[in-house]
Amino acid sequence: MIGRLNHIAIAVPDLEAAARRYQDMLGASVGAPQDEPDHGVTVVFITLPNTKVELLTPLGKDSPIARFLERNPAGGIHHLCYEVKDIIAARDHLLARGARVLGGGKPKIGAHGKPVLFLHPGDFNGTLIELEEV
Ligand code: CO
Repeated sequence: MIGRLNHIAIAVPDLEAAARRYQDMLGASVGAPQDEPDHGVTVVFITLPNTKVELLTPLGKDSPIARFLERNPAGGIHHLCYEVKDIIAARDHLLARGARVLGGGKPKIGAHGKPVLFLHPGDFNGTLIELEEV
């Protein structure tokens, strides 16, 4: 069911510093910061030949990654995003097998303008999984 790894998201306390590190130290192709108010984050996309890295930092008071950064003050891997062809079919497949789909199972529009869902990390070895329809 899952296809390519679309991105790895890393929560960071200082977006500018993290973006500069990827650009200057790792020589990566780093985009401009984008606010995603619906998701409570500001994002920088780093495009690699085979996938993307997203640097996330909290936007607003109720950011879902604020608590993550409280527990991991230096930042850390926040989620992995896998591509699926049909997000509703993927959701129903997962629910039928007992997986917990966050947000009531209703897809949201993600940072790339495509529908996304998140799966409970407790069902996947401690890893928050995002599914993105492509
Ligand atoms: Co993501």
